[in-house]
Amino acid sequence: MRFSFMFDKIFGHDIAHYIRGYRVLLMVAVVLGALSALFVVVPAYLLQPLVDDGMKTASEPVEWTIPWLQLSFPFSIKKTELTLIAGITPNRLLILLGAIAFLSVLFKSITVYFSELAGAAFSNRAIRTLRIDLANKFISLPLTFYHKRKSGELLARATADLTVMQGFISNITIGLVQQPLTLLVFVGYLLLMNFKLTLLIFTVTPIIVVLVRLFGRKVKKHSTRVQDATAEVTSSYQEIILLLKVIKGFCRGEYESGMFTKHANNLYKKVMHWNRWQLGIGPMMDSTTFLVIPGIFVIGKIYFDHTLGELVAMLYAFAKAYAPVKELARINVNLKTLQGATRRVFDIMRTIPDIRDRPEAQNMPRLQNAVEFLHVDFCYKPGESVLSDVSFNVKVGEIVAFVGSTGAGKSTLLDLIPRFYDVSSGSIRIDGTDIRDVTLESLRGQIAIVSQESLLFHDTIASNINYDGGHSTLEQIQNAAIVAQAHDFVMAFPHGYETVVGDRGTLLSGGQRQRIAIARALLKDPAILILDEPASALDPESEHLVQEAIENLLGQRTIFIVSHRLNTIKRADRIYVLEHGAIVESGTHNELMAKNGRYRDLYNIQFQH
Ligand SMILES: Nc1ncnc2c1ncn2[C@@H]1O[C@H](COP(=O)(O)OP(=O)(O)OP(=O)(O)O)[C@@H](O)[C@H]1O
Ligand SMILES: [Mg+2]
Repeated sequence: MRFSFMFDKIFGHDIAHYIRGYRVLLMVAVVLGALSALFVVVPAYLLQPLVDDGMKTASEPVEWTIPWLQLSFPFSIKKTELTLIAGITPNRLLILLGAIAFLSVLFKSITVYFSELAGAAFSNRAIRTLRIDLANKFISLPLTFYHKRKSGELLARATADLTVMQGFISNITIGLVQQPLTLLVFVGYLLLMNFKLTLLIFTVTPIIVVLVRLFGRKVKKHSTRVQDATAEVTSSYQEIILLLKVIKGFCRGEYESGMFTKHANNLYKKVMHWNRWQLGIGPMMDSTTFLVIPGIFVIGKIYFDHTLGELVAMLYAFAKAYAPVKELARINVNLKTLQGATRRVFDIMRTIPDIRDRPEAQNMPRLQNAVEFLHVDFCYKPGESVLSDVSFNVKVGEIVAFVGSTGAGKSTLLDLIPRFYDVSSGSIRIDGTDIRDVTLESLRGQIAIVSQESLLFHDTIASNINYDGGHSTLEQIQNAAIVAQAHDFVMAFPHGYETVVGDRGTLLSGGQRQRIAIARALLKDPAILILDEPASALDPESEHLVQEAIENLLGQRTIFIVSHRLNTIKRADRIYVLEHGAIVESGTHNELMAKNGRYRDLYNIQFQH
């Protein structure tokens, strides 16, 4: 469709896709906008009779004529005058002109209002859809995407850039129809009045075109810089809020404030650069009109013998014809700003998650036999191996543990099971099927994870435990909490399960957060339970409770557990000792103790203290 083609051309294919869905609303806005442009030409037709006839003090009748074109056959156009009213007294003409002026302004205001309302609905709907898609993109992108980026920078794109887009889209689209139309109407009027003089006036057009292009280029460049600097400031804010405790603890408030000031100053500098060009275009173009206004009076009076009324009307029409030109220049500038913001948002939108369902991916049935690692290698960055040739086999219902010094690759190994990352080579199989061949939803649906840092939502304890989205009853939630040894401390809060835990769970202690996270994992009723340091941050007493919680589960679920506390894992069916990403020993606690190797060293170190 031609309409869509126009969008592609003006906005670029990315955003045109979002605009297209709401083109009916846009049409309403544009048609009303065009109507309002027609109403503004009315005063030009009123001014000339007002000055030349309506102002006459004598009372003999006058007539109201307007310039007109006579079309005749065979094709020819002749300029004539059309008499609208004849034999009317000047005072009556004055009243009539006043009434018409009032009505035309009223109709114009009404059409402008509804045009802008439809435009606002159009742009806000388009951006709402884009906003939702962007959030879905954030959710679907793999963790590796976020390793390289600051979250504040991403937030800035989702807020500041989208706001810029929302502000400009409808103005630009409506303006692109309304302004040329206004221009056309007034240029038509001017041509009718005196086409020679009008053509003379428009010799300044090339100057305007050059200026518009120059300013447009500069504004685009600087607007991208402004958005980048805005993102830096947002990141800074975010880091200050997230790391406030560290900043206060190290008395680095002044230093951080200095860093922030640097970012804020930089933003100010970039914004001012942008403003220099963005604000400059209007006045620069205004100055070109000074060439024109005296020209109309001097040339119009001396060479063309126009009456005062005609000159005033032509000046009005010129000012009105010039406004859209100025407006179009501003639209061009806005379009460049919009393109800058669009590029930043669609950089993210275009990222294709590298971990996603294959087209032929099947749903994976619930685990029945075993989870196998076959010669798994993994690296975060090419050339920096984190896991190498890891192979093992875990039968359903078994509990296996991973131990090893810090940085050995234990958390990384566990992250491979729900496909937070994909193996670099080798494979992970569940019941013989490569996990890359099944849908992510069916894979992750049977895995529950308690990670090294227990993250909670700013919500009630009950909702945090019931995060799975299932319709669990309070009784089921409580049962999970009882098994996770969380019930007693929850009941000690005045609001019990309705207690709100604060941002990321900050109103709870580390150990309490961890037990809520365990309850959350248990309520999901997973086939596979992954526990990364479930007992870290716990005192020996709570550790004992967590250990009991885990023992409650023995035999029911397949459990992968990482722990530095070797007491927690004595009951494991097998323990794997990891060093520099490779398995160096494996066996039960007793077997490994008897072996007198790395495990026994770790064990002895722990219990000497
Ligand atoms: N996102 C990442 N990008 C690059 N390297 C990473 C990333 N995450 C971890 N690493 C590196 O991978 C190695 C293994 O990290 P991992 O978190 O798996 O260790 P771990 O055995 O769980 O240690 P800990 O006992 O301290 O939790 C480390 O050398 C670490 O620096
Ligand atoms: Mg770890």
